[in-house]
Amino acid sequence: MEITRRGVIASGAALAATAALPSAAVASPVRLRVMPVTAFVGGVQQDMLGFIDSFPGPTLRIAQGATFRASVENGLQDGTLVHWHGLRLPNRMDGVNVLTQEVIPPGRSFDYRFKVPDAGTFWYHSHYLSYEQVGRGLFGALIVEEDRPPDVDHDFVVHLFDMNTDAAGRFYDDPSPEQFAGPGRIGDTALALSPPITVRRGDRLRLRLINPSIDRIYGLSITGISGRIVALDGMPVPLPQSFDYLTLSPGQRCDVIADVVEGQVVFRDSGRTVLGGIAVDGARALRASAIRPLAPNAMPGPRGAVRSADLVMQGGLGGAAHKGYASWALNDSSGLGRAPFLDVPRGTGVRITLRNATGFDHVMHLHGHHFWELDASGAQGDYRDGTLVEAGQSRDILAVFDNPGDWMLHCHMLSHQADGMATWVRVR
Ligand code: C2O
Ligand code: CU
Repeated sequence: MEITRRGVIASGAALAATAALPSAAVASPVRLRVMPVTAFVGGVQQDMLGFIDSFPGPTLRIAQGATFRASVENGLQDGTLVHWHGLRLPNRMDGVNVLTQEVIPPGRSFDYRFKVPDAGTFWYHSHYLSYEQVGRGLFGALIVEEDRPPDVDHDFVVHLFDMNTDAAGRFYDDPSPEQFAGPGRIGDTALALSPPITVRRGDRLRLRLINPSIDRIYGLSITGISGRIVALDGMPVPLPQSFDYLTLSPGQRCDVIADVVEGQVVFRDSGRTVLGGIAVDGARALRASAIRPLAPNAMPGPRGAVRSADLVMQGGLGGAAHKGYASWALNDSSGLGRAPFLDVPRGTGVRITLRNATGFDHVMHLHGHHFWELDASGAQGDYRDGTLVEAGQSRDILAVFDNPGDWMLHCHMLSHQADGMATWVRVR
């Protein structure tokens, strides 16, 4: 095992960065002021963006079935708005400019209010100039709690965040066209941001892992714990899955329930880069009980025949020509054109073949709905709101469009989204 010097620094920095994190969760209703904040990130005092004095934004908690309420106040010089990622909510609460609401101007506010039907790990983030605003910190976790949560000693969020820094370690962003048209902005500093918690050996943890990084795909390994994946993108998996590496693409979440079995817990990317850790002190006896599946959320099935559709990802460096105006396109169109990719009556099931005809990976995210990943035989796999399609590969998904409105479908690599890889679906 090699721990690079850079890694050690990053690790210490990650623990220090948590000084900015509120240890207590915030309940709804909440006044979420969007504002510039200073935070200790990567070992340096940084000018970031945050919600209510906090980078990342506070972890919001609400009971399943309750009504979530947030008044978002814009304390920036620029416009902003907030998207509640992964939630099945009414379209006008989805926080997408042009499609669902106007941008909130500086000094103004917007009230979001919706029921939360599904328990799980969700997140919220700016959906305006998101490459810049999310890249600088406008994100946080939204946790919808089960009626009967699993028995654990600690339940907390770990955000995997990356950024570029200058020679003094300061946040630095100077995006090049190659970044937008290539793999995106992969920061030189990557951190696992978790609250300043000390756990005991033998404790059972529920880790809610979230990837709010704008473009980076993590191959996450966690040493010092032994456990199982219990949910992906907020949705419980039918059978908890063991893991060595967790692939977490931008926007994706993964809940892990695990016991602490060593004297330190360390998060690494690609088996090497240390992202951060959790302090361990003291011990208790391990639980004898197995890690059981979480109760499933009630999911809609299709009504009637399932349609099929193709969505081809095009462009980028070295990619073939397409008819879109930007470097990336979906089915020959860049950005939110006039016509939706699909226009379907409510309840329609659509099997969509996502074909990546580019030289780079993409993670396709659908708003307002989850979908099943399908394997080659058509069998239903994981139920997600974002799926990774590697360069040159294709993946089929089955979405049941039961939520009326205009919903975005886009690459959650925010550099790619900014440069055209986005479309939308109308559900009538
Ligand atoms: Cu997490 Cu369209 O976004
Ligand atoms: Cu992409």
